[in-house]
Amino acid sequence: MFWFKSKKTKGLKFLDGATDIHCHLLCGVDDGFDSLSESYELLAQEQNAGLKRVYLTPHSMGAEGAVVDRQTHPRHHKKKNISPVEENIPEDGIVSSAVLLARNEAKYDESARLSQYASEPLGGYSNQHLKERFEEYKKYYTGGVELRLAAEYMMNKELLAKVQAKDLLTYADGVHVLVETSYFAPPVEMTEILYTLAVNGYKPIIAHPERYLYMTKKDYRNLKATGYEFQLNYLSLTHYYGDEPYERALDLLDNGLYSFAGSDYHRISTFYHLMPHFHLNSDRTDKLLKLFENNCTI
Ligand SMILES: [Fe+2]
Repeated sequence: MFWFKSKKTKGLKFLDGATDIHCHLLCGVDDGFDSLSESYELLAQEQNAGLKRVYLTPHSMGAEGAVVDRQTHPRHHKKKNISPVEENIPEDGIVSSAVLLARNEAKYDESARLSQYASEPLGGYSNQHLKERFEEYKKYYTGGVELRLAAEYMMNKELLAKVQAKDLLTYADGVHVLVETSYFAPPVEMTEILYTLAVNGYKPIIAHPERYLYMTKKDYRNLKATGYEFQLNYLSLTHYYGDEPYERALDLLDNGLYSFAGSDYHRISTFYHLMPHFHLNSDRTDKLLKLFENNCTI
């Protein structure tokens, strides 16, 4: 069990009753968890801390079947613990979950499969594919956290097509959608994408704005004033992403620009390394708690 530390809330089970709206626990897709056992272990730790519900939000970064090179893409850090079966996955597409399961079952017994889950290339996944992987994930989960599926969409041309087709994995309210950009430069279509989302009835939530170093304070305020909402990666409050995102996160939190909070966990080591060192003062703790309350409304 972990505790978030602050002058006011030391000892409080900070995540009591909370919903996490952003994480990469869905195994085998994107650059998140490879291991079901580690993914479930993290859920168990968070459940001990009081977490009630979590949205699994795998990346959707392009057209269906598109592949993003993890080693060179500026958006992502290198993935660790690649499954041994990854070498069998073609570079030009996504292998169906049924094929992956068949491969796994041929190579491993059940216990091994839980710790060495197949890994797919980071790239474009169809909603149907993510739903299939989600059903597989839930099939082996025996813990008490309520699991839901959404996605984290990269803002690009391909997203525009999905929006116009109304083919997005939203939060439970059917309208809120998690979107992201590169950390270093805005997409040329950013204004058009956000506007198109809005006119098609969606409410975009811009993930971890504190990490977009190209954004100015004026950018943040203009986006917020236009009606777009921001989601804090609470790990930003630990310097996990560096000093600049840390300072920006504090500024955005202090000025009430966030609407939601999420973990964005990609691996369990982050949890074990960072949570013992998480400190917030009482004012910021109250603000973060408010974001978690808002998480339950979508
Ligand atoms: Fe994410």
